[in-house]
Amino acid sequence: MEELPVSRAVWCGKHWIYLDEVGSTNDYLKKGDFPDGTVVIAGRQTAGKGRRGKSWSGAPTGQALYLSVLFHSMKPDDMGLLPLLCGLAAARTLGDAARIKWPNDVLLHQKKVCGILCESRIQGSQVSAVCGIGINLNQPAAFFVENDLPHATSLLSVTGEERPVLTEAGMLLDELEPILDQYRREGFAPFLPAYQALCATLGRQVQVIRAQQTVTAQAVSIAPDGGLICSKDGETFVIRAGEASVRGLYGYL
Ligand code: BTN
Repeated sequence: MEELPVSRAVWCGKHWIYLDEVGSTNDYLKKGDFPDGTVVIAGRQTAGKGRRGKSWSGAPTGQALYLSVLFHSMKPDDMGLLPLLCGLAAARTLGDAARIKWPNDVLLHQKKVCGILCESRIQGSQVSAVCGIGINLNQPAAFFVENDLPHATSLLSVTGEERPVLTEAGMLLDELEPILDQYRREGFAPFLPAYQALCATLGRQVQVIRAQQTVTAQAVSIAPDGGLICSKDGETFVIRAGEASVRGLYGYL
């Protein structure tokens, strides 16, 4: 067990578990019986999960943050919004240059520095969310070349700043707790302006890749339910995370 992360958070991470190695921090929280706000941090993941069945592991201990947090008493609508709220919290810890690629990838200089996977967990009548956040902190630029990750980067590679994993964990929980408190009281509306201000997808041409077809549209704004409002030929439509994959026409955005 390492030292507690320095954090002002009261309930988010009050109960926390550090594991030197685990398959996936998300899976760990999905299996046990833990209180609201429980946080799991791992030094290494051996079967870390990304979105769309991709894997998320690989960085040596101390170079990346692998953190999952459990939120109890969630409603189905929350599952579409939590990724955006976690993205907002993560972006705020990564400095003024951090931007969000809808719905929740955090970018530095148009490369991915943080990925988020929120999953639901149902136990009896209790619906909970497991929000997994992976942040590339201290990998050198060569790590991404050697691992054929041309669209990924780390805080160190971009800023030259080395940040201990538990310091980042504390910063993240400090951002996440007030966001969750306010969200539980007031919903997503108060976060829309801040999210939109950081969302690098807006105002860009995006390819909406659906199973049957790919269309090019303009990303316009964020819907109250967290969907991406797009326009094409004067018509607007909303796409939801998981429904379509949005790729910028140029570069990673
Ligand atoms: C993505 O962008 O594909 C999502 C990546 C999510 C990775 C994090 S790391 C901590 C947590 N545990 C997992 O197995 N996945 C998430």
